[in-house]
Amino acid sequence: MNVDVTRNILTDEVLSRFDLATEEATGLPNACYTSKEWLKAENTRLFAKTWMLAGFCHDIPGKGDACPVDLAGMPLVILRDNDGEIRAFHNVCRHRGAVIVPEKCSAQRMLTCPYHAWAYGLDGSLRSRPHFYGGDNHDTDPGPDAPGLVPVRHAVWHDLIFVNISGDAIAFEEHWKPFTRWTADYDFSALNYAETLDFDVKGNWKLIYENFYDAYHVPAVHPRLEEFSPITGSIGIETEGPWFYNTNPIEEPQEGRGLGMPMYPGLDAVGQRTTWYFHLFPTMAIQIWPDQMAIFQLHAIEPGRTIEHIHMYFIGEAATEPQYAKNRQDVYDMWDELNTEDFLIVENMQGARSSPAFDGGALSPFWDPATQHSAKLMAGFMKD
Ligand code: FES
Ligand SMILES: [Fe+2]
Repeated sequence: MNVDVTRNILTDEVLSRFDLATEEATGLPNACYTSKEWLKAENTRLFAKTWMLAGFCHDIPGKGDACPVDLAGMPLVILRDNDGEIRAFHNVCRHRGAVIVPEKCSAQRMLTCPYHAWAYGLDGSLRSRPHFYGGDNHDTDPGPDAPGLVPVRHAVWHDLIFVNISGDAIAFEEHWKPFTRWTADYDFSALNYAETLDFDVKGNWKLIYENFYDAYHVPAVHPRLEEFSPITGSIGIETEGPWFYNTNPIEEPQEGRGLGMPMYPGLDAVGQRTTWYFHLFPTMAIQIWPDQMAIFQLHAIEPGRTIEHIHMYFIGEAATEPQYAKNRQDVYDMWDELNTEDFLIVENMQGARSSPAFDGGALSPFWDPATQHSAKLMAGFMKD
């Protein structure tokens, strides 16, 4: 890899622009959205260095369940051990480097490598090496110093499993603290996972993330959303470290938006008419509506291609039962409509990132301090 790629793109001149008054500042230059070398550097300097959403407890409900995850360009595995605890490891055999868990599996007592059958316990320790000393000459007790699976630092919040691959990010509780403070009125123990919606987008992941927190585009791009949640009620976008947030009043509940589904228990009248939009740099967003939580997760595949998942949670066990099937479908249809509107713009902008007439933009003092903040966050991770 060209280790100078970030220096060539984030020149001193570019970096100095991020610190100007917003009207004079710019966002990230075009190459951050189009360069393969830049994306490789994002894997090691950004995605591996911070807390990233890796998976879900509901994917590994039983002891011995394991699920492979690709994150930051690396194979990882999350699993539930014999005590029911969640663990995370690099998903690579210490012998010759095969992927240990190539696909989701359940009720495993050991993780056995598909290449030469080294077996690891669910705590990652190496338990046996068949034929290690020759045919029928097994190593049945490798001992505690034998090479086990390499653990990955992880944290769990309700159903969500996070990892910090580098191991040196701030404590997860600190990272998550602003969200805990802002959402004290919501009883998240009532959440029930329902469905994941998947989208394949021809655009850089940052265009999607930046669009998450861009409330400015709602009137032009989302006429139905504007009617439901008008821009005139928006507070703009507040930022705190890696968090971006925004909130809107609900004018009138609609199908798919607060109509007919159970709400969070104990929400007051204001909460029942409020939407919250939280965006956790770099690749995650959490939308909290009175009757749902939607978790947005981005996977950067190529500079111009991103897989997006929307993980849908509803409130209370009844909300995932057949009586609410129509209401749930209304919610999925709403997100599908909204995302389709967004992706047209994201794909439009990806094309424009090859234009020399744009190289970071001209920003709104009300809406775009968030874009400036995002550029600064990115520079903090990516520059030498
Ligand atoms: S690579 Fe895993 S046992 Fe050889
Ligand atoms: Fe949008």
